[in-house]
Amino acid sequence: MSGSLACVGIGMTLGAHICPLSKSYIEQADVVFSAVSHGITELWLQEMHQDVRSLQKYYQEGKSRQITYNEMVTAMMTEVRAGKKVVGAFYGHPGVFAQAPHKSIAMAKAEGFPAKMIPGISAEDCLIADLGIDPGRFGCQQFEASQFMFYKRQYDPSSYLILWQIGSAGDRSLTKFSTGAAYRLVLIELLSEKYPLEHQVILYEAAVLPIDNIRIETISLSELVGADIHMHTTLVIPPSEKMLPNEKLVARLAEIEQELA
Ligand SMILES: C[S@@+](CC[C@H](N)C(=O)[O-])C[C@H]1O[C@@H](n2cnc3c(N)ncnc32)[C@H](O)[C@@H]1O
Repeated sequence: MSGSLACVGIGMTLGAHICPLSKSYIEQADVVFSAVSHGITELWLQEMHQDVRSLQKYYQEGKSRQITYNEMVTAMMTEVRAGKKVVGAFYGHPGVFAQAPHKSIAMAKAEGFPAKMIPGISAEDCLIADLGIDPGRFGCQQFEASQFMFYKRQYDPSSYLILWQIGSAGDRSLTKFSTGAAYRLVLIELLSEKYPLEHQVILYEAAVLPIDNIRIETISLSELVGADIHMHTTLVIPPSEKMLPNEKLVARLAEIEQELA
């Protein structure tokens, strides 16, 4: 079976973030499928390869994203099964908050085709750089915003909290491109169990085109309800509390150190 699949990341900023390995996979592919956030990025991919097919066309407001993801997987797998060297070029990192690359790679492997993922620079990587955050300093938890609302998640207000897909937070139907104030109010209520309403949170948007302005807008948690939020906005909540020392555990470690000394 000669077909193969590589899902590669092209990073966030057009032309600036792609690694040589992803570029080489794209150039050597028989067919490239693209899931990118901007039409210009699609044109840029077409300069690297003559057969670039958009996966974005499967997204439609009112259609379940689950159907969209399955259609993306089917489109790529049909060509893999036909013996082609297939590349899926995804913006950011193909494995970060993205179902189709994981699903298609698992399916290709299960059917005996070589399949792999090549990482890319994700929105998280950009926000770490642009906001000057080190996830190792206080810890960092991240969730898809709707999942964070649908399930009783344990989270720690002494660490960073990153909520992805905040624009469609609370959409149970998986069909909406954006949800409005009523949904956000529910999210704010949930977050207010751990954070004061005046706690400062950040709306973040990385640059997609090199000329784009990076959005770093600091607002209070309560202002989130009326904020301008897009599909490509990520919410960053800095810690509101100090880390609590675990004195009992530290004492046990001290005992071990004494015994060893
Ligand atoms: C389906 S996920 C894809 C993430 C992508 N795979 C990555 O590596 O960043 C879409 C979410 O990523 C985040 N995102 C996408 N583009 C962004 C941008 N330009 N700036 C900040 N966050 C972005 C938003 O939270 C958005 O709702």
